Amino acid sequence: MANEDKKRAAAEAALELVRDGMTLGLGTGSTARWFVAGVGERVASGRLRDLACVPTSKATAEQATAAGLRLVELPAAGVDLAVDGMDELAPSLDAIKGLGGALLREKIVAAAAATFVLVGDDTKLVSRLGEKALVPVEVVPFGMRRTVEVLAGLCDEVEPRTEGSDLFVTDNGNHVVDCRPRPGFDAEELQAELKSVAGVVEHGLFLGMADIAFVAGENGVGRYGRGERA
Ligand code: A5P
Repeated sequence: MANEDKKRAAAEAALELVRDGMTLGLGTGSTARWFVAGVGERVASGRLRDLACVPTSKATAEQATAAGLRLVELPAAGVDLAVDGMDELAPSLDAIKGLGGALLREKIVAAAAATFVLVGDDTKLVSRLGEKALVPVEVVPFGMRRTVEVLAGLCDEVEPRTEGSDLFVTDNGNHVVDCRPRPGFDAEELQAELKSVAGVVEHGLFLGMADIAFVAGENGVGRYGRGERA
């Protein structure tokens, strides 16, 4: 099965959790796009009604608007369900996200979700976080050279993300530094260290956040609750 088909299958499995009247968090990236498209189709055909949607990026907002979905600011009460892709998924459902640079809004929405669902293809599965992906860290532009220096003291390698010859700019006007954790790192410790750095806004370690993951492989889509892949 082509990877794109797997992404679509995983995203469509998550569609089954959507109910009329829900406030939905819409993720960002090539897998989440399939979910947004699916929600749009169901709303257009009348299979789903009265949804309010919170997009996690400008790109997702554009797609959702074009699909006819009703967008709202994140309500104080949060969202009923948020569905998003991942870059790495560990057996515990801990994940790394942010390759697309939307990690800050993604984390705000995921943290506000009654149910947070990750969707992806089986190339994203790892036995330990950090096997394949770097940890993206969103930093404010002010003092960035110093922030990068401090991050270099916490990780093996740090690389400010670029787009062409410029620094990559997030939807929030910040930059991203991609960090390779040290071998054998403890994700909880690293998360605490990253959060303690002045200048760091957020990082792409999503620990203990996902309630369910749909992972598509050659043999179909597997549904995992927290702890079920362990
Ligand atoms: C966006 O910032 C990311 O967190 C994406 O959700 C993640 O990179 C997965 O993207 P794909 O579905 O495109 O692989």
